[in-house]
Amino acid sequence: MADPVRSDPLLVATGISKQFGGVQALFELSFDVGRGEAVGIVGPNGAGKTTLFDCLLGLEALDTGTVVFDGVRIDRLPVWKRSRMGIGRTYQRLELFRGMTVADHLLVAEQAKAGTFRLWRDLLHRGGPTAAELRHVEEVLELVGLADLADRPVDGLGLGHARLVELGRAMMGAPRLLMLDEPSSGLDVAETERLASILRDIRAAQGTSVVLVEHDLRLVESVVDRLCVLNFGRMLASGPVAEVLASPEVRLAYLGTSR
Ligand SMILES: Nc1ncnc2c1ncn2[C@@H]1O[C@H](COP(=O)(O)OP(=O)(O)OP(=O)(O)O)[C@@H](O)[C@H]1O
Ligand SMILES: [Mg+2]
Repeated sequence: MADPVRSDPLLVATGISKQFGGVQALFELSFDVGRGEAVGIVGPNGAGKTTLFDCLLGLEALDTGTVVFDGVRIDRLPVWKRSRMGIGRTYQRLELFRGMTVADHLLVAEQAKAGTFRLWRDLLHRGGPTAAELRHVEEVLELVGLADLADRPVDGLGLGHARLVELGRAMMGAPRLLMLDEPSSGLDVAETERLASILRDIRAAQGTSVVLVEHDLRLVESVVDRLCVLNFGRMLASGPVAEVLASPEVRLAYLGTSR
């Protein structure tokens, strides 16, 4: 029987290749994400995970292949257009502004949606945020578990909370597809578990599709519906997490052992 989630996918990448000098980072790779589906991407270092991510976001141009998002071809569109269409992401390197509070970070993300003029005007304090904007900020702070820290400057935050500010910023755009590259890097076990639980909440509350590139298999396992394994720029396996991790081919490539 056809899987209803994947029979009309939200994102479809077909035959994408990307070369850097002599390195074939992606080789005729095809990849899709269903509506509301969460997909994990794992694979050894250098497998092409970040390259795939960057090609989907528009940070890197494709050598070959196509990317279709919600029925529209996007592989020639700039990053900001893809973002406006509903592809959200968090940054691997945190980009937070010293002296600004947690809530202000989300507010700027909200106002940036309305266009540059609004953003600059508000940064110059000529016109405060609207009640609707403040309400939206509160909702998202709640969603990412930062309501208690709303008025704290970001400077003093630990990495776990700073990551959540990043996530909150991405969620302000109400993305239909949320893309995360190694969101657990540098987090301890408790922070990673909290992140996993918030990602599950986001999916439950908003039906957001998720692409999660991640080394931490526990995090991947607890968030995604399907796991893809990349190896040397190719898709080695894709399927339910337990099934994929049990495959001898995957164990050999990813864990260095087939047993
Ligand atoms: N801008 C670049 N210039 C040259 N080579 C690059 C560039 N970006 C990636 N590569 C190469 O492409 C291949 C895939 O890299 P990529 O960063 O996509 O791997 P990855 O799966 O994300 O690895 P990791 O697990 O270490 O993050 C690697 O061989 C890498 O050295
Ligand atoms: Mg990477």
